[in-house]
Amino acid sequence: MVLQEQSVGQVMDGKALAASVRETLKEKVTKIVETGKRRPGLAVVLVGDDKASALYVKNKTQSCKKVGIESFMHTFPADTDMETLLNCIKTLNQSDVVDGILVQLPLPSHLSAEEVLAVLDPNKDVDGLTTESMGRLFAGKTGLRPCTPVGVMVLLEEHKVDVEGKHAVVIGRSNLVGKPIAMLLQQKNATVTMCHSRTKDLDKICQNADILVVAAGKREFVKGSWIKPGATVIDVGIHHTQGPDGESVISGDVQYADAAKVARHITPVPGGVGPMTVAMLLSNTITAFERRTGIK
Ligand code: GUN
Repeated sequence: MVLQEQSVGQVMDGKALAASVRETLKEKVTKIVETGKRRPGLAVVLVGDDKASALYVKNKTQSCKKVGIESFMHTFPADTDMETLLNCIKTLNQSDVVDGILVQLPLPSHLSAEEVLAVLDPNKDVDGLTTESMGRLFAGKTGLRPCTPVGVMVLLEEHKVDVEGKHAVVIGRSNLVGKPIAMLLQQKNATVTMCHSRTKDLDKICQNADILVVAAGKREFVKGSWIKPGATVIDVGIHHTQGPDGESVISGDVQYADAAKVARHITPVPGGVGPMTVAMLLSNTITAFERRTGIK
């Protein structure tokens, strides 16, 4: 029997990989507790009533539970003032049972994420977003790294995607995703091109990408014709829309069906990068615990 040639790229199953990462982390927490130590703790701060943020936060606290990490939820109404929020962060900085602090973004428009990050203890910065954490990443020093970029690197490693010497194209230049992923890829010896909304001839640049990371924030922005045959495509986008019959549809920044016909590896949305982000948040919380308690 002649096997039919595969017409779609190999799907990079982030959901399955995240479950396997959680199992490893659960064993780690069990060992910590067996030695008589307290459980690692993550404080999650949510301001306002953005539905998507509430869902992401719920997902994060449920994932903590799965691996035995203690989570502390701090919810504030949308009209909370800066002083109240900063006081909360300062209290969490001082808490002995809190190893990681995550302030869910975006904040309501009258609040400044920058001011929050300026007071947040870098040792508890599980988002890797403080100037200290970003500086350490850019300088190649140890530190807590942003979760989505690390999750992407773990996915690439799991699928044995060769990064060294390859041309990696990153679309998006946010502090949370674009900038750190470009740096991590470069540290693995990729040649990185950073693109953004003002980049000219983006389709042609993408057609040269061995690894394409898309964090454009625009639904199905990258077309199948932009993908180099055999490339690895990482889709960081997530968009909730309604289908023709009113059904809920989730899609990414890449036209998945077309891109999958050309790519060698591709992440689905949902079930690709998203679950890995949460798994890396748990991993960062345990790392912060280990560093703060002197295990590492
Ligand atoms: N909002 C969307 N993604 C993230 C994330 O990774 N961390 C935080 N704090 N907020 C987010």
